[in-house]
Amino acid sequence: MAGKTILTGVKPTGAPHLGNYVGAIRPAIELVKGAEKSFLFIADYHAINAVHDAEALRRDTYEVAACFLALGVNPDKTVFYRQSDIPEIFELTTALMAVTPKGLMDRSHAYKAAKDKNEAEGRDVDANVNMGLYTYPILMAADILMMRAHLVPVGKDQVQHVEFARDIAGYFNNTFKPVLTLPEHQIEKTGAAIPGLDGRKMSKSYGNHIPVFIDSKQRQKLIMKIITDSKLPDEPKDPDGNTIFQLYSYFAPEADVQAMRDAFIKGGMGYGDAKKLLASAVENALAEPSRLYAEYMVDLPRLDAILAAGAEQARAVSRTVLSDVREAVGLKRLK
Ligand code: TRP
Repeated sequence: MAGKTILTGVKPTGAPHLGNYVGAIRPAIELVKGAEKSFLFIADYHAINAVHDAEALRRDTYEVAACFLALGVNPDKTVFYRQSDIPEIFELTTALMAVTPKGLMDRSHAYKAAKDKNEAEGRDVDANVNMGLYTYPILMAADILMMRAHLVPVGKDQVQHVEFARDIAGYFNNTFKPVLTLPEHQIEKTGAAIPGLDGRKMSKSYGNHIPVFIDSKQRQKLIMKIITDSKLPDEPKDPDGNTIFQLYSYFAPEADVQAMRDAFIKGGMGYGDAKKLLASAVENALAEPSRLYAEYMVDLPRLDAILAAGAEQARAVSRTVLSDVREAVGLKRLK
């Protein structure tokens, strides 16, 4: 990974839960931390394709900014910014439109999913599909190409978009001049579904989630509500089919995880005790971030200042790239 520029974007979708944290946020933070050069941004313009509530977007944007900072993104090491603060991205999007085949957008999973849903529910295939959704991959390509990213850590559902960015960069380079860097995706490691309180995949829509940023008492209460079978403490249990153990394995040090596994298998580890161990492991991991998060959320000017400083650094890169792009197609260079 040495020498490679890593970039990833997150949509502002409000307060995260433990599943988001373990599955996406924590691996993304680890990756940007390990990189020599890294960019992390809030994809707020992407969000408005779906979110048409200005107050909600403002709040969600601050929440996601506070979330990443509280969980360990260091804005002195990682360029951390809002997409909407980088006007060059939108100009690059227009330039990329000129080399992007319409057919590529027709093949986009997100667009196809919207069409299939409309069809299944008996509506016009393009009902509620705006051009923002349809051209989503072009804006995302601009995000990536704008900062000359080599490596883009994403969840599985976003791999196609990164492949499109690579294709679009290739079309541009072949049509004009090779000025754009071809990116590659990197799949975030935790592919496993993180179980929620009822054992199904943790999800806000199931109402079985544990928010990352709540006070310790509330968190503990939720953990105590995890549904288990009715095995007695002395009975041997299968750790792998067990929500408490699964969650514990993401938060406790390895030796403790092994100890809980052994105790479940041998018998003698009751669910009540296991929940207490889980609560304290989660508390260890999240007490300090929760405190920091609360501090950021009562000081929005501080968040604005951090994001503005990030935007300034990002723009230093984006202006050079855009200038090269303009020159390549026959427009005036930027001054
Ligand atoms: N589309 C991504 C998502 O929904 C967010 C995103 C926007 C992104 N632009 C990006 C991710 C550029 C990586 C690189 O999760």
